Amino acid sequence: MNPSNLIGEYDLSIGLDNFRQDVLHGLTKLPKTLPPKYFYDARGSRLFDFICETPEYYLTRKEISILEKYGSQILEQIPHPIRIIELGSGSSIKTRLLLDAASAVTAYIPIDISKEHLLRSTHALAQRFPHIPMVPVCADYTRQPALPLFDRGRRDRSLVFFPGSTLGNLDEDEALALLQSIRHMLRGDGYFLVGIDLLKDPKIMEAAYNDAERVTAAFNLNLLHRINVELDADFKLNEFQHKAVFNAREKRMEMHLRSVRHQVVWIKDVPIPFGKDETIHTESSYKYDLHEFAAFCRKAGFQSVRSWTDAEHYFAVVLLQTTPAKPNHRYIKPRLSLGGE
Ligand SMILES: C[S@@+](CC[C@H](N)C(=O)[O-])C[C@H]1O[C@@H](n2cnc3c(N)ncnc32)[C@H](O)[C@@H]1O
Repeated sequence: MNPSNLIGEYDLSIGLDNFRQDVLHGLTKLPKTLPPKYFYDARGSRLFDFICETPEYYLTRKEISILEKYGSQILEQIPHPIRIIELGSGSSIKTRLLLDAASAVTAYIPIDISKEHLLRSTHALAQRFPHIPMVPVCADYTRQPALPLFDRGRRDRSLVFFPGSTLGNLDEDEALALLQSIRHMLRGDGYFLVGIDLLKDPKIMEAAYNDAERVTAAFNLNLLHRINVELDADFKLNEFQHKAVFNAREKRMEMHLRSVRHQVVWIKDVPIPFGKDETIHTESSYKYDLHEFAAFCRKAGFQSVRSWTDAEHYFAVVLLQTTPAKPNHRYIKPRLSLGGE
């Protein structure tokens, strides 16, 4: 039975047609690509949780350590009461730390593309925080950036929480468009708390995406398994290999799947030829410099309030506040609005 503070759910799942269209688009161009958001079916979400537990994947542990140490200090910067909207909430592990540190939360709205995982995590969180109303939203935040706002007549502020360095999976234009739509949603009066992975020794970053137990390899290959199952394709998983390297010019980790030989893969009735060693670029994870990141956020209408890092400066949690809109502010209109302005 659902806890009484778990108030319905919004289901704006992407749908199979969009999945097929994105896969065919990515695999019929050169170089071949697939959008990383499709990693997260139920199995992919579980594999991501296992990645977070590998010794090499420092990102989760570092971000948790920052939130544990500075959670109260972070929340003190924001006038309460607040409603928290989380993007890519996953297992909502880090949310618990925020909810523990906040003094008055009027609503928690997690948004994630992976429905089963989202509902399970929100259910568990609703039991743990029975006084906070929660509304899970299954959606692609790059497609539906105008998010539901609850009790809009009230004076509570919104805090958009985006942990996990998931912003780093978007390239510069996509990240700017998302930040601008978040700013629009906040209506010029809100906060944005984002976790970002910082530039560091490439060996440390490459190890994080090449764990010895090969969990990240399984996560990467699961995308092909998902395409086989959902789109009637015939990828042979043992004929593709996980590859993760740091691209210094682009300041990003890249994950690829490398075809070990010449082959043709069928996606239902569409042939996709692969050369030997040709790769599908499945994920970019941009790594940031804190000053450059603050300057980037200013372009989207946010000013940095404060940032916190771990002792080794591997990871940062950055608090931003909306700046008043300029008349000529470039704004990219969201495609779908759920009760926005
Ligand atoms: C890197 S994981 C981070 C999970 C969690 N926030 C954390 O910090 O551990 C990315 C999360 O974002 C979700 N996600 C990825 N792309 C998305 C999109 N376009 N729209 C909605 N959710 C997305 C995934 O399902 C996954 O839960």
